Amino acid sequence: MNEVSSKKGPFDSGNITGADMDAERRVTYPTEAFFSRDYLEDEKKHLWPKVWQMVERETDLPEPGDWLTYDVADESVIVLRHGDGSLRAFHNVCPHRGRQLVSVPDMLPGKVHDVRGSGRRGFTCGFHGWGFDTDGNNTFVLDPQDWNNELTPEMTCLSPVKVDTWGGYIYINMDPDCMPLGEWMGRAGEILDHFELAKMRYKWRQWAIYDCNWKVAIEAFLEPYHVAGTHSQLLRYGDYYAYSKQYGLHSVSGYDTRDENYKMNESSGTTRSGKAGLDPRVSTYQLIKENYETVNYSASTETLVKAASRLQDELPESATPAEVIAHWMKSAKADDAARGVTWPEIPSDVMAEAGLAWGLFPNQNILHGVTFALCYRVRPYGDDPNKCIFESYALERFPEGEEPETEWVYADPTGENWGAVLAQDFANMAFVHKGMKSSGFRGPLPNPHQEQKVINLHRNLANFIGRGAPRLLGD
Ligand code: FES
Ligand SMILES: [Fe+2]
Repeated sequence: MNEVSSKKGPFDSGNITGADMDAERRVTYPTEAFFSRDYLEDEKKHLWPKVWQMVERETDLPEPGDWLTYDVADESVIVLRHGDGSLRAFHNVCPHRGRQLVSVPDMLPGKVHDVRGSGRRGFTCGFHGWGFDTDGNNTFVLDPQDWNNELTPEMTCLSPVKVDTWGGYIYINMDPDCMPLGEWMGRAGEILDHFELAKMRYKWRQWAIYDCNWKVAIEAFLEPYHVAGTHSQLLRYGDYYAYSKQYGLHSVSGYDTRDENYKMNESSGTTRSGKAGLDPRVSTYQLIKENYETVNYSASTETLVKAASRLQDELPESATPAEVIAHWMKSAKADDAARGVTWPEIPSDVMAEAGLAWGLFPNQNILHGVTFALCYRVRPYGDDPNKCIFESYALERFPEGEEPETEWVYADPTGENWGAVLAQDFANMAFVHKGMKSSGFRGPLPNPHQEQKVINLHRNLANFIGRGAPRLLGD
């Protein structure tokens, strides 16, 4: 099933297969995808108009008439909550002579993230006044007799865009022949459904413009292989060895251990015990506290951190790591229940398969927990392959009525704005982008076990763009 869904692009020859990846074969891939304007033009033709892409959380368009714009590369789409409660999406262009129906300025630091509003009953083009209803039908043409009254509704309506929802997100696809969103999400969607992302709400949301290609930015969050080199302070309380695995279009990573004897599936996600050899009651707390505080108060919750702080008082010194985790989860679940936050019941085999974080093709990342998620999205910035729009946001399950009000905030990439750990990630990006341009760079050597998500991104991109496929090393 995975192979079928990963070959929906127009090109599928000469690429490595999912089986090659599962066998963790060693590969490299060309760097053209990061720098070339031709490649960027091909993304505009073959990638963005063909893929399901996340627009926004559904909760941002709660009422009929609420609307917003979503822009990627040269495309602009209007998404709107219709009077009947369903979502509609249209290309943001007037069919007369092509003015944007809603003017969307370039995204500007501190100024423009998107354009949105409420109470929308239709659209009137600002150029010659043509009108449209919320179904996209034309409602007004000035002087239709000048066309001999031969303009048809098909000629004068807005161009529809497919829209659907998953996990509390609004997704669009500009390809009228695209596969359904459920099929696109595949097994990744089935697994993440257990975490009930739709019931989570924004805790914070920030964005920035970075000096690197969008793929350099998303790749910085696809693998924990960089933790030892980039976030060495985190090694005090935890090991960050990771596995990664392709699921067709999408892929997952999770914590792993280098020693087969210490494999512990249940702790491949964020709620795991601290470093082997330390008192797990103490190290589990230290690990989660440090992660929470230095990743901008995300990737965990206040409830989980507080419950972890009590482990030393509530458990004997003899408690094993597995007992510590079980007790921690039980008491955090009870604490949350007492304040009106219900945990989803997730079968242990699903929890094990769910790992730590998912890369959803092409540009969405979700690091999920039972009651929270830390997420990223990256888009190209206009026509410049050397820049991107980077967004990160934290979701959390809140007691009803206690969800915070948030909006997109532009935040320069400092530790003060994003937390020390994310600032360390940002510090690499521009220099990865610059470094790969060196004539002395022989091509990436991604780790076949720990960085498979990066390889899978390039494998799937090649299926859409028609070049850039990873190739087996030595071939
Ligand atoms: S371009 Fe919209 S009415 Fe002319
Ligand atoms: Fe990182």
